[in-house]
Amino acid sequence: MAVERTFCIIKPDAVEKKKAGAILALLEDAGFSILACKRMHLTRSLAEGFYAVHKARPFFGELVEFMTRSPVFVAVLERENAVAQYRKVMGATDPAKAEPNTIRKLYGSNVGENAVHGSDSLENARIEIAYFFPASEVAPSTP
Ligand code: RTP
Ligand code: MG
Repeated sequence: MAVERTFCIIKPDAVEKKKAGAILALLEDAGFSILACKRMHLTRSLAEGFYAVHKARPFFGELVEFMTRSPVFVAVLERENAVAQYRKVMGATDPAKAEPNTIRKLYGSNVGENAVHGSDSLENARIEIAYFFPASEVAPSTP
């Protein structure tokens, strides 16, 4: 199976609860290398651009308000089959429906405030990584 990169956001709810470190540790324990990571407060235009695919959805306004209310951590994760593996470790969008020991089950509050974001395809992972990180900020893993 191919080594892939995927994109992670630790959302404001989890950062506010001081669970960013616990989530990064869980990801390392699950076999991911954290190739890049930074803390930032998303502007409205950054958040709207990132979630543009959801613009027509009824929850769009609420989602942008949530994602801009306090800082997040954005990160690039690498491992074999990273996109699918990270979605598995994240758990279902609604924490109440997520499997035990997934990030959303452990740290999410509800379907809107669900602790983390993860890319849903390899193509979107590339787009999302490039949206937040210039290539110079993503150090390749050492063998
Ligand atoms: P994400 O993109 O953040 O990794 O989450 P996802 O793929 O599991 O879910 P998606 O359908 O892409 O939704 C994006 C984010 O919008 C918020 N949401 N709120 N109030 C609602 O019904 C609702 N539905 C989705 C969540 O923050 C979700 O992660
Ligand atoms: Mg999504």
